[in-house]
Amino acid sequence: METLSGKIIVDTSFTLSEVDPRLFGSFIEHLGRAVYGGIYDPDHPTADAQGFRGDVIELVKKLDVPLIRYPGGNFVSGYRWEDGVGPKTERPSRLDLAWRSIEPNQIGTNEFMDWARKVGAEVNLAVNLGTRGIEAAQSLIEYCNHPSGTYWSDLRRSHGYPEPHNIKVWSLGNEMDGRWQIGHKTAHEYGRLASETGRVMKWVDPSIELVVCGSSNSRMPSYPDWEASVLMEAYDEVDYIALHNYYGNEDDNILEYMAQSEDMDHYIQTVIATCDFVQAKKRSKKQINIAFDEWNVWFHSNEADKKQEPWTIGPPILQDRYTLEDAVLIGELLITLLKHADRVKIACLAQLVNVIAPIMTEPGKGAWAQTIYYPFLHASRYGRGTVLRTPLEASSYESVTFGAVSYLTAIAVYNEQEGALTLFAVNRSPEKSMELSCDLRSFEGFMPADHIILDGPDPKAYNSADQQNVVPRRGTLPAWENGRCSVILSPLSWNVLRFSKVD
Ligand code: AHR
Repeated sequence: METLSGKIIVDTSFTLSEVDPRLFGSFIEHLGRAVYGGIYDPDHPTADAQGFRGDVIELVKKLDVPLIRYPGGNFVSGYRWEDGVGPKTERPSRLDLAWRSIEPNQIGTNEFMDWARKVGAEVNLAVNLGTRGIEAAQSLIEYCNHPSGTYWSDLRRSHGYPEPHNIKVWSLGNEMDGRWQIGHKTAHEYGRLASETGRVMKWVDPSIELVVCGSSNSRMPSYPDWEASVLMEAYDEVDYIALHNYYGNEDDNILEYMAQSEDMDHYIQTVIATCDFVQAKKRSKKQINIAFDEWNVWFHSNEADKKQEPWTIGPPILQDRYTLEDAVLIGELLITLLKHADRVKIACLAQLVNVIAPIMTEPGKGAWAQTIYYPFLHASRYGRGTVLRTPLEASSYESVTFGAVSYLTAIAVYNEQEGALTLFAVNRSPEKSMELSCDLRSFEGFMPADHIILDGPDPKAYNSADQQNVVPRRGTLPAWENGRCSVILSPLSWNVLRFSKVD
């Protein structure tokens, strides 16, 4: 079979941006088995004194996730944060209308902050702008961030937390444009509320950063007018606008599926243009950046979830079982986020444990890594530093939705301090290998150091509690001649090529 060819040039002089580590953030919502039976399971053999699963903590720590959004998602739009603080025996159980579940409130803001500290992450805390508003957001930030001497800060102290949590990133509600959202709003209604709430929150703590809701996805009829209208109201108060999107291979067409990262690319470009349009209209010096704070593959579990009994605690919903092809798309989406590192400062893989997640748990048994765990792990570990502009040439195919799409997608990240250059590359072809020529002549004194590959003969292969069928392997190092080398990217593969400076 014919081999595809690709060409890439990377030069230390052509930088795009420093990577904000928060690009490798994630998300835990009170949804399904993410909290109850996921991060928290007091009866599990690895549970610590607070009931947090130790095996889950270890898997999360390996991913080095710097920021975790919490507590929702759709859940937050009906959440009373006061239910989740104070003595556990006095906390009420409530109907969670977003997911038709019972919320027992055994985990709330303080416990989640403790868990986040254990995994080494900061928290992006969302306030409820569905059923609630300014007052609840004000009391929550005062409870979390004010040192002492006021009703809410002293209440926190009385709950056993003498030091403020000092939460820096806050989300102003969730997907407020969606009819499914409790208390959903028009762009004008939401923009006004977000602006007034944000102003009050910054009066309580001027050091915080605020994320305002953009559209729930780029297919919403009001997109991107929503972004423009909301920003016209809230531009001065907020720092980031949220983007959400989930991808899927419902039509079982692998090449169309592999092209879906183009959608993420267009979406980011459009929202940047909208932010800059509003900046120009407002004659503002301030730039709004992007928080792509929900992104993932989500489609496998849709049918099963329709059959779920309502009103249980921690129902097994949104438990997508990810395949190799999903993992390769996740690699492409990570490349796309890195390509926009100059404006995308926060991104959250949604979600982290059991719910459309890289990490799964078995009740009473082990925790294990889904296929998508690996590209995220590699990008988080090796994708920190400076993104270099990475021009490439490769053969392309015709996608019904996106037109001509290159078989190759790639980005380079240079970590000067560590003397390391990493090239992330995906070969989208499910059938053909690609010979990729890399021109890295500006990297004097560098040598190929590693080639990590996620691939396999079956695009539908998946991992389970008993079997890790899709795991990274190591390729042979390419021959290196005067700063050039040539590597083979196997069909449908995620590749991490590492080059190190040698003394
Ligand atoms: O991540 C699952 C759900 O997807 C979130 O609750 C919501 O914000 C989005 O629609």
